[in-house]
Amino acid sequence: MATIRVRGNWGRLALALLVAPWVSGCGGLVASLGVAEQDDIVRVRSTAPVRPASDPRMLVLRVTAAQPEWPGTRPLVAPPRRAIRCEQVKCVALTFDDGPYDHTGAVLDTLARYGARATFFVVGQMVTPQSTHYLRRMVSEGHEIGNHSWDHPALPSLAGDGVRDQLGRTQRAVRAATGVTMRLFRPPYGATDGKVAEQAARAGLAQIMWDVDTMDWRDRDTSLVTRRASAAGSGSVVLMHDIHKTTADAVPGLLRDLAARGYAFVTVSELYGADLVPGRSYAGRTGTDGATGRR
Ligand code: NI
Repeated sequence: MATIRVRGNWGRLALALLVAPWVSGCGGLVASLGVAEQDDIVRVRSTAPVRPASDPRMLVLRVTAAQPEWPGTRPLVAPPRRAIRCEQVKCVALTFDDGPYDHTGAVLDTLARYGARATFFVVGQMVTPQSTHYLRRMVSEGHEIGNHSWDHPALPSLAGDGVRDQLGRTQRAVRAATGVTMRLFRPPYGATDGKVAEQAARAGLAQIMWDVDTMDWRDRDTSLVTRRASAAGSGSVVLMHDIHKTTADAVPGLLRDLAARGYAFVTVSELYGADLVPGRSYAGRTGTDGATGRR
C-alpha cells in the first residue's frame, strides 16, 4: 500500500491526471487499483503489476535459454509397464524386426490409434541420426525395444567374440539414442546355438523367438499378412518386419481382427509378466513351437 498526502485542489488535479491514463486505458488495472479519498489523504492501493499477455515467441526464447540442448537431450519418459495378467486375459505380443526404417512411423501411428503396445527388434546399423526419432517414439509410447544384432548375420557362423561384438555394438547404439538398456534379443533368422546363448546371457539378453510367422518378408501381400497374424492365439508372439510397406499396411487390419476377438496387445516383457532369464530362449506362452519353445 502506498500513501500519498495531497494538499489543495491543484494536488488532487495533478493526481487525477497521473492516475487517469491507467484507469481509462487498462481494464485489468481498473479492477486491481483502489483509490480511496479521505479528506486530504488519498490512498492508492495497488496489487502486483499486470503483465502483458505472454508472447509464445518470447516463451520459446526463455525456455531455450534455460535448456540450451532441449529437446535433444531431454530425458525420455516411458509410460510404466502395465500390470496385465496374461494368464487370465488373452494377450498377443506383436513383434517387428529389422528396422527402424521408413515404414516404422506408420506402424507406430497405427499402434497408437489402437492403444496397442508392441516390441521392435532393431538392427544396430539401422540406428542412425535419421532414425533415432523412431526409437524415441517407441520408448515414449510404451513399446519395447530388443536387440537384433548389428548387421544381421547368422550368429552361429561367428566366433564368440564376433557374437559379443554384434550384441554389444547394438546395445550401445540404442542406449546412446534412448537411454534404454535392452533386455531382449532376437537372433537373426532365429539361428542360435550354445555359443550364441552364452553371449546373450553375458549381455543380459533373453532370446525371443516366435510361434506365429507371418512370412511377410517373402509374401509382400497385405491381406495375407493380416490373415496370418490374425491367426494368433492367446500368448502368441507374432513375427513381422517393419521394413516392408505391405506389413505396415497390414497392421490396421490385424489389430482390428484381434481386438474384435478380445485380445490385449502387449510387449514381450508384459506377456511374460516377469523378468526373463538372460540367455534362455522363449517363443510365446502357447508353447506351440516345439523347436524353440520356452526352455
Ligand atoms: Ni531379421
